[in-house]
Amino acid sequence: MSYQVIARKYRPKKFADITAQEHITRTIQNSLRLGRVGHGYIFSGLRGVGKTTVARVFAKAVNCSRMIDDQVYLKEVTEPCGECESCRDFEGGASLNISEFDAASNNSVDDIRLLRENVRYGPQKGRFRVYIIDEVHMLSTAAFNAFLKTLEEPPAHAIFIFATTELHRIPATIASRCQRFNFKRIPLSDIEKQLQSICEAENLDVESGVLQLVGRKAQGSMRDAQSILDQVIAFAIEQDNERTVHYGKVAELLNYIDDDQFFEVTDAAAAGDPKKMLDVARFVIDNGYDEQDFLEKLIEHLRNFLVVYNLRSTRLIERPEPVKERYQHDAARFTPSVMMRMIDLLLQAQKELRFQFEYQFRFELVLLKLIEVAHPSVPVSAGGTSQKKKSATQS
Ligand SMILES: Nc1ncnc2c1ncn2[C@@H]1O[C@H](COP(=O)(O)OP(=O)(O)OP(=O)(O)O)[C@@H](O)[C@H]1O
Ligand SMILES: [Mg+2]
Ligand SMILES: [Zn+2]
Repeated sequence: MSYQVIARKYRPKKFADITAQEHITRTIQNSLRLGRVGHGYIFSGLRGVGKTTVARVFAKAVNCSRMIDDQVYLKEVTEPCGECESCRDFEGGASLNISEFDAASNNSVDDIRLLRENVRYGPQKGRFRVYIIDEVHMLSTAAFNAFLKTLEEPPAHAIFIFATTELHRIPATIASRCQRFNFKRIPLSDIEKQLQSICEAENLDVESGVLQLVGRKAQGSMRDAQSILDQVIAFAIEQDNERTVHYGKVAELLNYIDDDQFFEVTDAAAAGDPKKMLDVARFVIDNGYDEQDFLEKLIEHLRNFLVVYNLRSTRLIERPEPVKERYQHDAARFTPSVMMRMIDLLLQAQKELRFQFEYQFRFELVLLKLIEVAHPSVPVSAGGTSQKKKSATQS
């Protein structure tokens, strides 16, 4: 059998299997129970968080014979049955009641006219035809306008689902005629749980910490997490009979920089220790880590400091327990204004480094400047030794 990527193999088939978007699935299931299905929906949110998945389950549900014929089932289960002819057509990709339209590559007025023509015809089987219009923000203004009329007086059998990663680019005239659902970024703990059950289904053992590494890299996108998991498995499992994914291999593949390095930076800044700071810079450069990526994570590290400082709790920090304790312990090291200035400096540097050639040297300088921010009277990066008195960090 040909290999199927994890993201497709494990695409949820019913509402209950969709993670972290309960605020949306619950509302849709309620409207199904009440028989109050709308004709226009906007699904917005990050890539790979379930927009297309929810749209497909929804399309399957409105056409499921059991949902239509069995009122008790409809009220109590409110899920596509997966067994009737319509559900089987959907799952086999053979249903004519769902059309996916990619607005990124079909964004002209003519494309929309064709779609409008198509919408006039009702379903041969089932109740609704569902049109998923992906990347809808890519439609031209004229194309949007051509669509307005259809949306104002939609045929009774049509449901439009507009999916977008950029809600603000949808004209108000369209948005105000639709129900809007905002998909959330998926929390790390939910991503880990999902990956865990996939690994169990695939009969794989993963060492502790592996799934958190994968999940963090995905930054809230379930599809990204699953694609990275595919890559990790291909890399970590060298022989067919081996079923364990080792932490070390995954850290190597994902070019993962240990949290220690970021604490070294804040330690060096707090202590006003340029030698220690340069050691970190060397470590990053010598190990072939991406400097931009390092700065990105360093900003996240300082953000964690700020969060712990302000909340006096680590509950918003997605890290293993020992690391959280370290944040708790170190949080009072810098005042919020020093932390903000460090973050500003790094954000600025991130922008500038992109256009530089000798960026390794600049990268070192940026790290050294952090000391200057923490100790304003010690101009370390200007070279030469300063005679000025060191000021306290907590000024
Ligand atoms: N909330 C979720 N729960 C479980 N799996 C999910 C979820 N979101 C995404 N996935 C997984 O990721 C894959 C891609 O999701 P989907 O196609 O729904 O993303 P999308 O939001 O439409 O992204 P894009 O903006 O890139 O089109 C699915 O096949 C599924 O395996
Ligand atoms: Mg999609
Ligand atoms: Zn069914």
